[in-house]
Amino acid sequence: MTDIRSRLMAEAHHHMPQGVAENYRYWGDERTVFIQSAHGCTLTDVNNKKYVDFRLGYGPIILGYNDARIDDAVINHIKAHGTLTGFATELDTQVVQDIKKLCPNIDKMRFANSGTEAVMGAVRTARGFTKRDRIAIVEGAFHGLYDEMMWKIDVESWDPHGKEEPQIIPFGGGIPQSTRSLLDIIPLNDHDALTSLFARRGDSLAAIILEPIIGNCGSIAAEPAWLQLLRDLCTRNGTLLIIDEVKTGFRVAAGGAQQLYGIYADLTTYAKAMGNGYPVAAFGGRADVMNVVGSFAGGVVHGGTYTANLIGMSAAHATLDILTNTHAYARINQAGSTIRAILGRVFTRAGIEHCFAGPDAMFGIHFTPEVPNNYRDWRRTNSSLYRAFAWRLIEHGVMLEPDSREPWFICEAHERMDFAWLEDVAGRAMREALDEMASIP
Ligand SMILES: Cc1ncc(COP(=O)(O)O)c(C=O)c1O
Repeated sequence: MTDIRSRLMAEAHHHMPQGVAENYRYWGDERTVFIQSAHGCTLTDVNNKKYVDFRLGYGPIILGYNDARIDDAVINHIKAHGTLTGFATELDTQVVQDIKKLCPNIDKMRFANSGTEAVMGAVRTARGFTKRDRIAIVEGAFHGLYDEMMWKIDVESWDPHGKEEPQIIPFGGGIPQSTRSLLDIIPLNDHDALTSLFARRGDSLAAIILEPIIGNCGSIAAEPAWLQLLRDLCTRNGTLLIIDEVKTGFRVAAGGAQQLYGIYADLTTYAKAMGNGYPVAAFGGRADVMNVVGSFAGGVVHGGTYTANLIGMSAAHATLDILTNTHAYARINQAGSTIRAILGRVFTRAGIEHCFAGPDAMFGIHFTPEVPNNYRDWRRTNSSLYRAFAWRLIEHGVMLEPDSREPWFICEAHERMDFAWLEDVAGRAMREALDEMASIP
């Protein structure tokens, strides 16, 4: 008899490319996950298998799935006020005020529906303010699906022990070559590459956009001195620093990565954790920069039918209230550090060289003795052992992305999980992964 998952997968193939709603959900015909329900930190798939989830929908879930505090606030708000009218509401200002309480880097903001849109808004605003066109990003980054951001180094086909530089390639088909022409890509934590970028492009660079803790590269993080140099070079050259806090914002600390570093951007993007899973995003920063956005002659265009819809905005208002007025971060960080300690014991017992990168609420695991300094270093880690370990964990009911470039996400609800169970299954998964690796000729 075919199981429910396989039947749904076969049917979905008739209706969607690869049988999924977006590319990143396709894990192969045998492994693509179909979810029935999600509560707290637990997922239940359509075959009734339960997982403790550390993937958390790529990071938005900061409190837990189905959190009644947020869901009730959203339901009550939309029952009273509707979902959207295309007009201003009092809630628009309230959510900016909520954010400003936590993020001293923000004077003014605008809203969006996804991280991609927030990044598009920030980049256009930076170009409008500086009247320059060029932008730069950091290797290993992901800033969403907008064409100009869809270029990366081809780390897979690069020889990490050779002398050649990695090639720069598009993420996939349909990305016009012309969208590469205004973009530079530099390695994180490389002082020479940074100074040389500004020497070449200082007067044409509108913005550099980065995640100081790379949520798309196993939480590999900028060294404070490198980030400070970047901040100083931006200031000296009239280039805007855009910090993409789509993953780190309201997660790694109330004030995001910028609070941890004490180094502040001119413009910042937020999404994910700000709505605990409801679709809401924002970009903002310095008032003088944001004031170029507007419908006056020469103003930077920003809009969107669903922008600041009341579903996302009421979710953000409720989530930010909890993050501001409860001990949620202490609980999240405590759960994260307990989980790291458990995994560390498992790796040590198995004799695996390992390190953790990034903060407790969003940490990466790398099978290598020292924390990688950038994406090129990541290529030298034992990512195939990680992949084998991750697939075994998934079989045992621990959900995560089977790629060490995606961090482990922690939410408040993880404080109630069974930690002894995790230690047991992680130990088993590692033994099985090592056996599997040993059997590969
Ligand atoms: C740092 C960063 N920026 C932007 C995005 C794009 O966000 P979205 O998927 O909401 O468009 C992502 C998505 O993972 C991200 O991690």
